[in-house]
Amino acid sequence: GSYFTNVDSATEVKQDYWVIPCEDLMLEGQILGEGNFGQVMKATIKKGDRRVKAAIKVLKEGATDNDRKDFIGELDIMCKIGPHPNVINLIGACHVGDQLLVATEYAPYGSLLEVLRSSRTLDTDPDYAQKTNMACALSCEQLLQMAIDVARGMKFLSEKGCIHRDLAARNVLVGEHMVAKVSDFGLSRGENVYVKTTMGRLPVRWMAVESLTYSVYTTKSDVWSYGILLWEIITLGGTPYCGMTCKELFERLPQGYRMEQPLNCDDDLYQLMRQCWRDRPYDRPPFAQICVALNKMLQARK
Ligand code: ADE
Repeated sequence: GSYFTNVDSATEVKQDYWVIPCEDLMLEGQILGEGNFGQVMKATIKKGDRRVKAAIKVLKEGATDNDRKDFIGELDIMCKIGPHPNVINLIGACHVGDQLLVATEYAPYGSLLEVLRSSRTLDTDPDYAQKTNMACALSCEQLLQMAIDVARGMKFLSEKGCIHRDLAARNVLVGEHMVAKVSDFGLSRGENVYVKTTMGRLPVRWMAVESLTYSVYTTKSDVWSYGILLWEIITLGGTPYCGMTCKELFERLPQGYRMEQPLNCDDDLYQLMRQCWRDRPYDRPPFAQICVALNKMLQARK
């Protein structure tokens, strides 16, 4: 069965987590994606009599000290915050030599961005519908439900004092029963620092105006990014500020420029996005309030 242990100081992690015996972990070879620190692989883990599917992250070769710090930091954060249905949860970690393999729950539908974009073609391409697990395009209710899922995950994280810093549809995974789960805590930290993503590129199109200009990250800058994520959901994976350069964003966002209302977007949902994109961080709604607002919209449509 499972057991907990205190990890030695070499791994810099002081929290307890389930140490997976190496022989109970079977890598399946399938690459699920590129994480911030290396590849993510699909695996099966023997847990008593049960077999659980998992996503395994390994620190890439040639990782910098900073990568390593972020990688361990993510494990550390996942240990500390504990499980939630709308967050990708930690299963455990496995030590192989001096390598650390981190196992998280497996999300069968992949990233929300992929789910949104592929739902566009489901209507027009029946072959594609067969190839994927999804039978039909996403309904308005399903889209709203996934927006609620993410808001709940973020409410939970923010209550734990966790700032995500890279909230976007690409960093949300879709699990069993199409439940959306916030993923990739690698960049989340307590301090306000300038953070770079995988390619050294900043997720400028998701960044709050104060993150762009002052490199300040708070739960309220996560709320801004959440507003962009709402826009991604309603446009089925559109590119925010499409046609605008990053330089233009740097110039125009502080001047008050915001994306306009997407064609199929109801007024109440657009109002919520605009609240998330308010200039002053404290004017933006907290995630708890976003949950309430979205639940009302969902009830009104049912
Ligand atoms: N990381 C990338 N793809 C994943 C998936 N399908 N499940 C869990 N983590 C992932």
